[in-house]
Amino acid sequence: MIKTPDKSYTEWSVIARPKDANSIGTIFGGRIMDWMDMTASICARRHSNLKVSTVAVENLHFAKPLKVGLVIKICAVINRTFGSSMEVNVDVFGEDTYNNNKSFKAVTAQFIIAAVDDSYRPVKVPELKPESAEQIKRWEEAGERRNKRNAKA
Ligand SMILES: CC(C)(COP(=O)(O)OP(=O)(O)OC[C@H]1O[C@@H](n2cnc3c(N)ncnc32)[C@H](O)[C@@H]1OP(=O)(O)O)[C@@H](O)C(=O)NCCC(=O)NCCS
Repeated sequence: MIKTPDKSYTEWSVIARPKDANSIGTIFGGRIMDWMDMTASICARRHSNLKVSTVAVENLHFAKPLKVGLVIKICAVINRTFGSSMEVNVDVFGEDTYNNNKSFKAVTAQFIIAAVDDSYRPVKVPELKPESAEQIKRWEEAGERRNKRNAKA
């Protein structure tokens, strides 16, 4: 079966609360990674309809701090599928609802997620069909990243 990225696109929002913060009043990186991993996994499950397991996280970049009180939006989209693995891009945005919903991208990463069977062995996932110019670009860039990774191994 071939599926488009739109079918598994996953987005949700949460208010950053004091319990999510570190000692300098911004959101703890581990908490953000938890939200990102959860969102990437849901996206991968929606695409594959299989059990999934996170294998690697690449290019994790905390570009801007996220402060307590902001609305945090986490968005996951599949860039590309390979055999058993899927590269899922996750972006995290901060949104200031007290300032006309002004939004900025704070964190990004690519999650490599594998589909597994009941014995935790990798199994093949449905192919991804990128449609828009943006989706095709993401698909090509994911292939380049995989080639670079494999060249290093
Ligand atoms: C996921 C797991 C079953 C894969 O098993 P494995 O023996 O490494 O199997 P493979 O080598 O065939 O790798 C599976 C896929 O992951 C990819 N992969 C493995 N290591 C990778 C890495 N470091 N970076 C990117 N992709 C990787 C492989 O390329 C393969 O993808 P493909 O089938 O599309 O080519 C195994 O690594 C595992 O159970 N890891 C623990 C996962 C976990 O506990 N995660 C945290 C909780 S979700």
